[in-house]
Amino acid sequence: MDKPHVLAVDFGTTNSYYCKCPADQTSPVGVDFGVGKDGIATAILYRGQKEPLVGDAALHEFGETPAKERTSWCLRTQFKPDIAASDEAYKNAEDFLRNLIVQCERLHIDIDPGKREVIFGAPSESESIFNAKLSQIAQAAGYGNIKIVDEPIGALLYHLWHKDFSPSESQKGVLFVDFGGGTCDFAFLCRMEVRHSWGDFELGGRLLDDIFFQWFLEQNPSALREMKQNGDTYYVHSYLCREAKELFSRTMARDRNEHVSKFIGRYGSISDMTWGKFMERAANYIPGHVFTGYLREIGNKSVKLTCSDRKIDLLDWFKRCLTRGLEEKNINIADIKRVILAGGSSQWPFVSDIISDVLHIDQSAITRSDRPYVVISEGLSILPALKQKLRKTRQVLKDDLPIFCEKNIRPWIKEKTGAIASALIGDITSNLFDAGIKPVLTEFRKSGGSVASLRNHISSEAKVFEPEMRTIVEERINVLTAGLSDQLTRLVVEWFASYGLSIGDDRVYREATVSMEIDGKILVPDLYTGILELIGWFTAGTITSIVAGLCGGGGVAFILSGPIGWIIGAILAALVSVLSLPYGVKRAKEMAETWNAPAWLIKRNLTESKITKARNKVQAHLKTILSEKLEKIESDFEDRVREVVETQIEALSEIETL
Ligand SMILES: Nc1ncnc2c1ncn2[C@@H]1O[C@H](COP(=O)(O)OP(=O)(O)OP(=O)(O)O)[C@@H](O)[C@H]1O
Ligand SMILES: [Mg+2]
Repeated sequence: MDKPHVLAVDFGTTNSYYCKCPADQTSPVGVDFGVGKDGIATAILYRGQKEPLVGDAALHEFGETPAKERTSWCLRTQFKPDIAASDEAYKNAEDFLRNLIVQCERLHIDIDPGKREVIFGAPSESESIFNAKLSQIAQAAGYGNIKIVDEPIGALLYHLWHKDFSPSESQKGVLFVDFGGGTCDFAFLCRMEVRHSWGDFELGGRLLDDIFFQWFLEQNPSALREMKQNGDTYYVHSYLCREAKELFSRTMARDRNEHVSKFIGRYGSISDMTWGKFMERAANYIPGHVFTGYLREIGNKSVKLTCSDRKIDLLDWFKRCLTRGLEEKNINIADIKRVILAGGSSQWPFVSDIISDVLHIDQSAITRSDRPYVVISEGLSILPALKQKLRKTRQVLKDDLPIFCEKNIRPWIKEKTGAIASALIGDITSNLFDAGIKPVLTEFRKSGGSVASLRNHISSEAKVFEPEMRTIVEERINVLTAGLSDQLTRLVVEWFASYGLSIGDDRVYREATVSMEIDGKILVPDLYTGILELIGWFTAGTITSIVAGLCGGGGVAFILSGPIGWIIGAILAALVSVLSLPYGVKRAKEMAETWNAPAWLIKRNLTESKITKARNKVQAHLKTILSEKLEKIESDFEDRVREVVETQIEALSEIETL
């Protein structure tokens, strides 16, 4: 049986985030480890015979204990990327994860994996061997049989759930950027699937901590000796200077003209930090010896960071990491419709600047939560509940779709075809009857003549009118169907919204014309494209069918055959009765058609009211033809709307396959 609760773990290089959520309710709660921030440091301190310490407590203990007292101790951090390649990293990870459960139990923080479905995030570029090792580690550490989901998917779910964008938008290209404490990951997603991923395991927020540490030492040259004496350098570097960095970054995000100062514990302060000075330092960064010493001590073997004194341009490094991946993976930047920023360091204002510059997209297409470091764990924790909810919603939508079509679509399209029919009846009557046939009848009434010549006249008027008829039909229908796409989209969007689902938006409208192909795969057409095609089909289909109905078969004359037949029949009957007196009925009938009848006789029989009656008959006849043609189109139209909406409903199911 499925477990009623979920525990999602974003096991990070620098920090790890745990989040709990009921399996049937999207109400995630991040685990508070009591360290005054979200998540917990991914660190373990082995202390000889004593029980290992994990998390921020491990860092504190290590930082606060004088060096000579911790000679037999061993602090391990940043082991996560190496679990597949190094036995030691494997062991550190297992010990960290196991001891975290023990530590939580003691503190009465309930994360018991036994009663929960446990989901771990994994960087999407990780190989299957990495995932297999992660599963083994988690199993051994007491997390049971875990499920592994790509980290970017977690972030995507988080933002979908928060309605930061719509499911149909998530079908398109989304760039995911996770700039954390120790690493920087990128992934390109499309249709809830990670298509490409890349990153840099050396570029992370802690390099920026080092900038502030060096800044501080420059302003307070004597502080280092004192710090060393107290065994505080690690603490100052990774805590106090990180705090100064975060304060500075937050201030700059608000206003880049500010000047910032910050106390660094009791060792002094960094004063007058400005954006200009920071940029200068970030462009000419050389890892300081305190930092490189620490990296070596914890087993970091990065040549770039520990064995080189070449200047590093950190912002350029971030930019190159992004552009290199785009180039190597052959990603067309036009396919990137949305950017999701995750990881604490993504809060640096330069991150969104560089991204919008490289991708040529507006800042509004870049989405970042207020707490970008928790999006992965929260998103992963709601996955089971979201799946369940969407499964139910999908069923309800499917069940309600016929009612929607009947109650909303049918009356709407009937109103539109009604407008088309009455406009065409008006146009054709005035152009064919009033301007063509009626003058012929009036002239006949005035001057008299033979019925045969009247027939000829009328049929040649009808012939002349035929090409004009096509133009009238085309023009009218084109005018009357303009704007229908927007109206129909609104109807569909509102229907989805009534179930709490957002699909499509103005951005989708504008992008409807851009390529719908990524990697040679055709994407599910977004709603507006589907509707545009549908209205295109409706317009063309209505024109073809109506033109065929009006001009096909007996041509335009066909419309006239009934009403004109009726009026000519009436005239002929009158002529026969006049001629039958001198010639007898049989001969009169033969003569009537070609007899050149005098005007007075025609006038008496072809009255004004008969002409009006014939006009009404023409209109009635047109109405019958048009409604017969339009009825067929209406029902086909309803079927097609159903198909378009079903595609949208199906798009919701992609989450279920995760
Ligand atoms: N407002 C801010 N501006 C800049 N950096 C910040 C801000 N807030 C937090 N950070 C930085 O974000 C980093 C932590 O981010 P996060 O918790 O996402 O990393 P992580 O998941 O542990 O690391 P990784 O993903 O590399 O394993 C730290 O370096 C922290 O200083
Ligand atoms: Mg992370």
